[in-house]
Amino acid sequence: MEDASVAEARKDHPMWSSRFAFILAASGSAVGLGNIWKFPYITGENGGGAFVLVYLLCIALIGLPIMIAEVTIGRRGGRSPINSLRMLTHRDGLSSRWTWIGWMGITASFLILSFYSVIGGWALAYVGQSASGAFSGGNADSIGALFGGLLADPWTLLVWHSVFMALVIFIVARGIRSGMEKAINILMPLLFLLLLVMVGYAMNSGEFSQGFAFLFQPDFSKLTTAGILTALGHAFFTLSLGMGVMMAYGSYLPKNVSIVKTAVAVSVVDTAVALLAGLAIFPLVFANGLEPGSGPGLIFQTLPMAFGQMTGGVLFGSLFFGLLVIAAVTSAISLLEPVVEWLEEQKGISRLSGTLMGGISIWLLGLLTILSFNEWSNVYPLSFISAFESKTFFDLLDYVTANLMMPLGGLFIAIFVGWFMNKQAVENQLDLSNDVAFSLFMFVLRFITPAAVLVVFINNLL
Ligand code: PHE
Repeated sequence: MEDASVAEARKDHPMWSSRFAFILAASGSAVGLGNIWKFPYITGENGGGAFVLVYLLCIALIGLPIMIAEVTIGRRGGRSPINSLRMLTHRDGLSSRWTWIGWMGITASFLILSFYSVIGGWALAYVGQSASGAFSGGNADSIGALFGGLLADPWTLLVWHSVFMALVIFIVARGIRSGMEKAINILMPLLFLLLLVMVGYAMNSGEFSQGFAFLFQPDFSKLTTAGILTALGHAFFTLSLGMGVMMAYGSYLPKNVSIVKTAVAVSVVDTAVALLAGLAIFPLVFANGLEPGSGPGLIFQTLPMAFGQMTGGVLFGSLFFGLLVIAAVTSAISLLEPVVEWLEEQKGISRLSGTLMGGISIWLLGLLTILSFNEWSNVYPLSFISAFESKTFFDLLDYVTANLMMPLGGLFIAIFVGWFMNKQAVENQLDLSNDVAFSLFMFVLRFITPAAVLVVFINNLL
């Protein structure tokens, strides 16, 4: 039944050592630059509380069902996203065109990692800056110049991008258990610890109540349609959905683990980290009279100003950027994994050579992002399409993956599992003791999730 290469791919397939290991790994994928860099600045730009509320709704109604669907496909298929879909469609007698979701997902992982690594490199560079006291006594101009200086210098960006990718390749090459699981077991607890230290610091030295109110007191007059779209797009990005990462991780999930419970745990951890990051950042922003809506530079420009002005700023600044590096690394390994898992399934490619092939090609593609900030900052490759008129290579990669590929992937995943995949198989995978819970889940996955994604997706295109 199964073709030989697919059957071959199943041999020697490793597994996470426990449910906890999977939760930690999937949370490591979900918790990343999205939580600590992007969530605070888009919340700032969109006025706080009301935006946060919409974001939470998107996580619960769209993100969580899609995560469950993705892990279900991955575990039932037990292979890379492409081959899992190929096998499932074959087994259920469906069109093999669904495999296309896997191809798009692996392409998206490839594209996202190419720029994610460059931004991870900024975080690495900032650990050094912080530790050397470069922010001390800095004002808006001097710290703006520091950030501007980093972006303007392609060689420095290249060095940090290379260090970051080398780290990711090293971990992924060592495999699921002895590479990824080991690294994640150390990095995730460290991340939580650092985050709690930062929140504790904000409670004592920042305008904590003002920061808290900004995040949790909804003011609906500040909510815009664009804000709602941003919240949805971010729900996909922050939970690593729509592109096969959770399928790949699910393919290493032991059979007796509850998919629903683990997906809920991962979503809760991811959301908690984003909110805690907000609670660590905004009190410092307000205490220092800075602007919450300053955009992508929030943690690279605004926050260093706060670190430069406060006591213990050198230490806490270094800890904060260290935290950012850890979060970025555990997400980056999950972006490389589906690519490597698929390469490994090809005849004669070992884990090591697959990781090197994938990693080095992604590293090369990263050069486009590096140059987008300096030499090619005026190069707009698709300027003949009006929506892409003033987008650099980096802007295009970010836009096409987050606003087009991820929602589209998520939409098709929801439709595939909700409407096409063998229903008994879905029920077996989810193993919910309660029939009502299963029917409710299927209802949300079939109707609510696709409708919501579609509305937002179409709006995004217009
Ligand atoms: N979820 C990660 C973050 O929040 C980004 C990511 C997206 C990782 C897609 C893997 C896949 O930073």
